[in-house]
Amino acid sequence: MSLEEARARAPGKLILAGEHAVVYGHPALAIAVDRGTRVTLRRRPGPTSLGRSAVRDPRLLPGLLTVLPVEGIEIDIDSDLPVGRGMGSSAALAVAVVRAHAALRGEPLDFETTHARAFGPERHFHGDPSGVDHAVSALGGGVRYRKGLDRPEIQPLRLPDLELVVVDSGAPGDTAALVAGVRSRRPGIDPALQRIGALVGELEAALGRAAPLPELGGLLDENHTLLQRIGVSTPTLDAIVQTCRAAGAHGAKLAGAGGGGVVIALVDDAEPVLQAVRRAGWTAFRVGVAPRQG
Ligand code: MEV
Repeated sequence: MSLEEARARAPGKLILAGEHAVVYGHPALAIAVDRGTRVTLRRRPGPTSLGRSAVRDPRLLPGLLTVLPVEGIEIDIDSDLPVGRGMGSSAALAVAVVRAHAALRGEPLDFETTHARAFGPERHFHGDPSGVDHAVSALGGGVRYRKGLDRPEIQPLRLPDLELVVVDSGAPGDTAALVAGVRSRRPGIDPALQRIGALVGELEAALGRAAPLPELGGLLDENHTLLQRIGVSTPTLDAIVQTCRAAGAHGAKLAGAGGGGVVIALVDDAEPVLQAVRRAGWTAFRVGVAPRQG
């Protein structure tokens, strides 16, 4: 049954390991987080337009028009995800819009269709993304993602309980520009990207057997070093990583495209890490895993 108004929500994400390498066909591991974006779509005469929106960006409406009709809808957006920080704010928006639009039309929606449709806005926002961000947002929980030639391989990831702290560098990163930068600086088969791909397999196995935190943290640290090597870290991100480690984190890395955005730190006690990074002037918060989507 078609409705006058429909609402949907989708979570953001954090990449535990494998960003950038995932663009070249290596797997990545990610979690959906307990923050997200809610979209309300309302039928209204006239051109489709933004109503109340937490986000104001000229790319927003054209991106959403890749999955919405050009006439007849007003879009409200609420979000508690920082924008452009590697936490999947655009992916959460894309998935929430696809879901709300299906609900408005009274149409059933499975995971594959949601993922395929949400590529529209994601391509508009990020050029040629691997698709990992909106796969995680659409599936929830932990996810192992690999791009594949025809279709992506997307599998639920077994996770132990993880205590994670997120630290916001305060600067946005431009995913499309960062991915293009890696492509131009690291042509051909790149040893750092290859090693990230292998490390993802090691981390997946270590998570599956709930390995001790120092072992998991060591793999996050190594992933950060490799991301530095491909040129997507910044002095601020490196300083955040060092501050987290000095305050007792078992491991820390930038998460997402880099160039700004956030650092994730694996901890057993979040308080000293939160205090240390806040003292240094950064915003930080604990983050939990969003449940698998129904
Ligand atoms: C961005 O969240 C992840 C990247 O690997 C880009 C992508 O996968 O499309 C940097």
